[in-house]
Amino acid sequence: MKIIGITCSPRPKSNSRYALEEAFKTLKNEGMETEIFDMNKLDVKPCQGCDFCKTNDEQKCAVKDDMQDIYESLKTADGILLASPIYMGQLSAQAKIFLDRLYAYFMSNWTEKYGAKKVAILITQGQPGKDLYKTNIDTYIFNFENIVKFQVIGTQVLTENNEPAAITEKDEQIEEAIALAKKFL
Ligand SMILES: Cc1cc2nc3c(=O)[nH]c(=O)nc-3n(C[C@H](O)[C@H](O)[C@H](O)COP(=O)(O)O)c2cc1C
Repeated sequence: MKIIGITCSPRPKSNSRYALEEAFKTLKNEGMETEIFDMNKLDVKPCQGCDFCKTNDEQKCAVKDDMQDIYESLKTADGILLASPIYMGQLSAQAKIFLDRLYAYFMSNWTEKYGAKKVAILITQGQPGKDLYKTNIDTYIFNFENIVKFQVIGTQVLTENNEPAAITEKDEQIEEAIALAKKFL
């Protein structure tokens, strides 16, 4: 079984990435294959809305950038762990670009061909209150499930992580990230 991690923070000492990496250690111990794509380091452009993916027979995205590597890896993946900070009440721009590029799955046979991937969403934020940005997270769930036709298996919000690497001292939150990842098992 293979799970890919999509990290969406620009920070070198990223809380969300740290939580994902800790969760992936558990998955690896369970014998699962993992691969991490760092959206901030990769060259992944926003969707250009050209509809090439809707009008050609091969179901390919016309934008030739690093997203092509993610599409390729996704073919054989069973799930995605999407890890993002909250920026201005929403998942980061890097996360939005990833979601938008999954538009290539919409009205195509990709999901039928390669399977409905399981998706888990892992969030870190500065504010207390796990439900504060529920509306935005629900929008991601809606799009993964109804547009991309993947299956969202869970979400986890890890609060009060304003400082870089703050989460490294929070064993309870790491356990929550691990519990989310275990839903893939
Ligand atoms: C530009 C920017 C906007 C932010 N907006 C919010 C916000 O609206 N609500 C919140 O709770 N935290 C907000 N934060 C704090 C981050 O969500 C928090 O530090 C998070 O843990 C960062 O994750 P990372 O370390 O993986 O980048 C913001 C941080 C930045 C830099």
